[in-house]
Amino acid sequence: MRRKIVVGNWKMNGSLASNELLLEALLEKISQTIPLDIVVCVPYPYLFQTQSHLKHSCIRWGAQNVAKFESGAFTGEVSVSMLKEFGASFVIIGHSERSTAYCESDENIATKFMMVKKAGITPILCVGETLIEREAGIMEKVVSKQLDTIIEMYGAEMFDETVIAYEPIWAIGSDLAASPEQAQVMHQFIREKLSSNIKVLKNLKIIYGGSVNPQNALQLFSMPDVDGGLVGRASLNSSDFQSICRSAEI
Ligand code: 13P
Repeated sequence: MRRKIVVGNWKMNGSLASNELLLEALLEKISQTIPLDIVVCVPYPYLFQTQSHLKHSCIRWGAQNVAKFESGAFTGEVSVSMLKEFGASFVIIGHSERSTAYCESDENIATKFMMVKKAGITPILCVGETLIEREAGIMEKVVSKQLDTIIEMYGAEMFDETVIAYEPIWAIGSDLAASPEQAQVMHQFIREKLSSNIKVLKNLKIIYGGSVNPQNALQLFSMPDVDGGLVGRASLNSSDFQSICRSAEI
């Protein structure tokens, strides 16, 4: 059975003071022996603070984006080697809030995915459809295309030991999570699409994101192809996040 993983995406939230409280509460509440991977992806300026608090715990940390270049004249960007210096072991790539706001192309996302993987950090690739695309019944086609760019540029084996987050855009920040059945259909589709590669089949995790909360987490995580969650708002509350993590202990 695949070990589950729950990732908190803090987005652009927090302050030194509020992070201190949240991180300390997580350390207190989340048991060292919990049988799953737990990660928080924090804003860049708080990586050092997060590393300082979590370095002796079972909770790992990461970033929410990365540059597609290694170094150089790219004002405002942060490279993968910089993330490594702060102990980041995960990076969210291609979150819809970024691809929409900054018009990030699938090619850009694919390049970042490869850079992160090459550096030994685990990429968390976000895929998902808009409401219009779902209503038109083309969600599988949309998600397929998002994956195809990486497959065409680098091969399906690139997905070995990575995480794909299925995040339907209509479910993000909306209080309307996908139903467990809707999530299962999409997760199964993604897994089958990548299943020709045996290693990928074994080591790829597919997690669900979009309005995950303590009330719906257990049902979502009980689906056979849902390997955990990517959690936005509820990851900012230590009790909610703890409760979601407990739901993944199945
Ligand atoms: P919410 O959990 O706040 O809907 O956010 C989901 C998300 O975008 C996680 O990356």
